[in-house]
Amino acid sequence: MCQALAPADTHRPDAETDAFEARLVNALNEGGLMLLMSIGYRTGLYERLAGQPPLTDVEIAERAGLDARYVREWLGGMVAGGVIELDPATRRYRLPSAHAALLTDADGPNLAVYAQFFALLGAVEDDVVRCFREGGGVPYSRYPRFHEVMAADSAQTVLPALFDAILPLAPELPARLEQGIDVLDCACGRGRALLAMAERYPASRFTGYDLSTEAIAWAQARVAESGLANVRFATRDLSDFDASAEPAAFDLVTTFDGIHDQARPLALVRGIRRSLRPGGVYLAQDIHASSHHHLDREHPLGTLLYAVSVSHCMTVSLAQGGEGLGTMWGRERAQALFAEAGFTTVSVHQLEHDIQNDYFVCRAE
Ligand SMILES: C[S@@+](CC[C@H](N)C(=O)[O-])C[C@H]1O[C@@H](n2cnc3c(N)ncnc32)[C@H](O)[C@@H]1O
Repeated sequence: MCQALAPADTHRPDAETDAFEARLVNALNEGGLMLLMSIGYRTGLYERLAGQPPLTDVEIAERAGLDARYVREWLGGMVAGGVIELDPATRRYRLPSAHAALLTDADGPNLAVYAQFFALLGAVEDDVVRCFREGGGVPYSRYPRFHEVMAADSAQTVLPALFDAILPLAPELPARLEQGIDVLDCACGRGRALLAMAERYPASRFTGYDLSTEAIAWAQARVAESGLANVRFATRDLSDFDASAEPAAFDLVTTFDGIHDQARPLALVRGIRRSLRPGGVYLAQDIHASSHHHLDREHPLGTLLYAVSVSHCMTVSLAQGGEGLGTMWGRERAQALFAEAGFTTVSVHQLEHDIQNDYFVCRAE
């Protein structure tokens, strides 16, 4: 398949090339692992295997209600990738508990959730290559599963830390939320953070806006199911929020991963400023990065996040005729944007559970 993998007499210019080749071969393998891992997550195979005694491929397929031939091939990849163990004598497979801990929803983050991004973004490669040649962007409509995967992602980065770590970044917020305030979440996606807050703080009132009719319909269905009376969601293009935001209507505005892929980020943040009452707070989560490529070399997820940017965040903004800030726009540019929008005090925080994001607490006085 790959010329570089040819053994023996292949010309080796130098040790650096050797090392780079080894790294690329590893990357090819790990890329394959991500595609298989996404399938394992979506088919529920990891959940079926967790905590189970060693099972044959047929038993695993039966328990998961899946086709045995596909499951056997997938298991082969999991064994080759060192994720699942196979006893060759009994031909039984086992998911070690140390691996299950990171691949199931039981406790802590499920890293298999993030593996879904590879297939999701790979599906639009033809569109992205066309944009490299012709400019423009790839619209949200080309990513049928985006909001589902994004909600699963933010359910891991936002929800578990929302009440104990994120909201207390503005120390007065938990008590004010208990007493009853008005809260807006801009670019709320499926709105899981807002739904969680509405349940926790019945005396407060919550509003979520997002461009996506699909994401908002999902959120509205959850509101109807739950019977929550203090939260509402509406489809809204926030590109003109600087002009259209209702002045002084909210005490807290949040954005979770919601600024950099906007068409007009400054307009949105100006609108947020305008919509805050005196003493109000804007709490923003956005991607942790420097605004300089050379510093991104040290970023633990830098390459991945640039891939997400090229194949999603930057291009969906450009598709709206927007600025295309990109996922990795970085802390310095974020701070400059918040200042330009009228926030006079901006503090930046990193939280222990979340290597992917910075958290900004913005105030206007
Ligand atoms: C990365 S997602 C984050 C969603 C959600 N806050 C979360 O954390 O799961 C960015 C969101 O911005 C929304 N968005 C993009 N452009 C928008 C626009 N012009 N107006 C309103 N929302 C927009 C998208 O629909 C998407 O839901």
